[in-house]
Amino acid sequence: MKAVCQAGYGGAEQLSVQEVPLPKLEASSVLVRIVAVSVNAGDHHMLTGRPFLIRVAVGRRAIPGMDFSGVVHAVGSGVECNFSEGDEVFGTADTKCGAFAEYISVPATNLVRKPEKVTWEEAAALPTAGMTALQSLRTGRPVETGGRVLINGASSGVGTFAVQLAKLMGANVTGVCSTANVAMVRSLGADAVVDYKKESVEQAAAAAGERYDKIIDAVGRLGWHRLLKPKGSHVAVALPNPESECVPCSLCAIACSPWCCCCLSSSKSHMFMQEVRAADMDELAKMVADGQLRPVLGLRLVGISEVPDALAGHSETLGQGHRTGKTVVSLRGVHSESMERE
Ligand SMILES: NC(=O)c1ccc[n+]([C@@H]2O[C@H](COP(=O)([O-])OP(=O)(O)OC[C@H]3O[C@@H](n4cnc5c(N)ncnc54)[C@H](OP(=O)(O)O)[C@@H]3O)[C@@H](O)[C@H]2O)c1
Repeated sequence: MKAVCQAGYGGAEQLSVQEVPLPKLEASSVLVRIVAVSVNAGDHHMLTGRPFLIRVAVGRRAIPGMDFSGVVHAVGSGVECNFSEGDEVFGTADTKCGAFAEYISVPATNLVRKPEKVTWEEAAALPTAGMTALQSLRTGRPVETGGRVLINGASSGVGTFAVQLAKLMGANVTGVCSTANVAMVRSLGADAVVDYKKESVEQAAAAAGERYDKIIDAVGRLGWHRLLKPKGSHVAVALPNPESECVPCSLCAIACSPWCCCCLSSSKSHMFMQEVRAADMDELAKMVADGQLRPVLGLRLVGISEVPDALAGHSETLGQGHRTGKTVVSLRGVHSESMERE
């Protein structure tokens, strides 16, 4: 099979499309013929090896790529679920990676069925970004009807899902993005949008006399406490930007803030780590099939040879990408929703 191979940490020069053996099918795994994949900021962190924490926590993978949609090719002998050959599925290899290839073998627990109404590209866009948005909104203070929720990085993969999910939960949502993405974030239902190129969140919040019940930070900065209401929650989805922050200091600040003496306030910061949960992927796919949730497909490419550039070019600046919504690549030669079902 063809796969994108990563030789070392760096950029596009470390990536090449090569012929490699099919992945081994473990007893508890399912072999999937991949139709479409999506790119996450996490894939880019694993390519660059920045922030350095990722080299220790995850390490380098021979074949990158987490999220995919595809067709079940074979089912391991020990899989106790009713996947069978030909089923249309989507899922994630998570940090084990291997999705930027024609086939992947993943634990059956990392897969769910793709509803017919959901396109291959939409399904590939869902796993990591969708689960992160859903789970981060369910971390800390619950979102209440009319509650004020701020999404920093509202135009990102995670942010575009978070804005829509927070609206579905009944919140009043403020999104933060750059000028080019203001209209798109509004179209997702955001009640207010802060254009960070024109004003800071602090300036916008002060002008509106606003504080927030919940802040989801999908970009990575500190200093959210003063924007929270009493008992509010800040959920740190992104690692602090390594270009502008000292990562160990920032991690300590986030981790310690619920207990540290300067932070006896009732508002809390939560470090967040997404977990692979099939039930969450199922829930997200049903919302897309019902028309309640719309994956924002920013850049749509065709062919595995496009993956190296899509991955290496995902971020213009270290740690903070400037892609809109999700970048998806159809591996089967045509835009996947028009692909004849096989
Ligand atoms: N903790 C976890 O388990 C977990 C899981 C998934 C993702 N993450 C992290 O969450 C973050 C988002 O992931 P992603 O895949 O959604 O990223 P992404 O799609 O690559 O994010 C790119 C977006 O970030 C926006 N952005 C960049 N700088 C910004 C700034 N200063 N203020 C506001 N928006 C800014 C860009 O919008 P503009 O072009 O408009 O600036 C762009 O739309 C990443 O740091 C990722 O590592 C963490």
